[in-house]
Amino acid sequence: MNEFTKTVDAVRQGRNITKEQLACLLGQAGSEEEEYLFTAAREIADAVFHKQVFLRGLIEFTNYCKNDCYYCGIRCGNRAAERYRLSEDEILSCCDSGAALGFRTFVLQGGEDPYYTDERMSAIVRSIKDRHPDCAVTLSIGEKSHESYQMFHDAGADRYLLRHETADEEHYAKLHPKSMSLAHRKQCLYDLKEIGYQVGCGIMVGSPYQTIDTIYEDIAFMQELGPHMIGIGPFLAHKDTPFRDEQNGSVQTTLRLLAILRLLFPKVLLPATTALGTADALGREKGILAGANVLMPNLSPVSVRGKYLLYDGKICTGEEAAECVVCLRNRVERIGYRVAESRGDHPDFA
Ligand code: 5AD
Ligand code: FES
Repeated sequence: MNEFTKTVDAVRQGRNITKEQLACLLGQAGSEEEEYLFTAAREIADAVFHKQVFLRGLIEFTNYCKNDCYYCGIRCGNRAAERYRLSEDEILSCCDSGAALGFRTFVLQGGEDPYYTDERMSAIVRSIKDRHPDCAVTLSIGEKSHESYQMFHDAGADRYLLRHETADEEHYAKLHPKSMSLAHRKQCLYDLKEIGYQVGCGIMVGSPYQTIDTIYEDIAFMQELGPHMIGIGPFLAHKDTPFRDEQNGSVQTTLRLLAILRLLFPKVLLPATTALGTADALGREKGILAGANVLMPNLSPVSVRGKYLLYDGKICTGEEAAECVVCLRNRVERIGYRVAESRGDHPDFA
């Protein structure tokens, strides 16, 4: 036992972490110590989820966005992005093929696109729930009013993903234009929770200006919010953004943070993200082996996949993209896990 492994045990036991402990677990460590952390996280995930991995069918239905986040490839300031929107029929047909493939969750993700008014969004959610009453609908469409969130929930939306990106005010201001605020982002997350959604927050790992201190604040915020899902993946620079020359986030730090989050939030739904799979060909497998339990294969029509580019190098955008579901199932099984058939609600909602 050394300081690193002792810290793993202490964090696991106490389900809490100090800044010093966080610095230790994200600092220098040998591969054996790292494996000790991943094994501890995996044991917890396996005890709660019995080696099940939940699949979410991701439908990237619009890459129009009115915001101008400095890191994001679909920011409104990026004139090089080729914009698209899916019609309600196109979205429904993605869901139909997804349901046939066994998906029980659809995630509708898009930029903040005013074309999709509350009425349009609610109608889309209603149609999906009519056709697939056994499926969960997750929305990931950014900051809205309490009233709008309530309307989508009334229409049948079950879950909502809204990464907070960073819980540090100064850091937030370095990632976003003045028109956006951390306070509003947090308010949205609290509104969503209060309405009764299963709520997901999250961050990019290694985003410009991120430090141990900001990650510590992120964890403190998560502990206060009590999210059902936490989405984290490495920051990856996009060539047509102000952050084009910034360093990418590290896979190793992402895996360690996934494991730490599993120690702290045993029941949370934790995806091994596409960004992780982009940064490392085996990133998603490594993520699951570090405590993640969700994968989000792309169900968008192959014709638009190459246009929803938040960062450079995104995987699964080519002609073979229709194979992702089969590919991911195989990958899950190869590492001794199995794809769940249920909706995969948070244990407190099931
Ligand atoms: N690299 C990695 N992740 C990104 N996101 C946006 N841009 C990037 C990038 N360049 C993440 C943000 C957002 C989510 C949908 O994708 O965290 O909330
Ligand atoms: Fe897309 Fe493997 S997940 S090809």
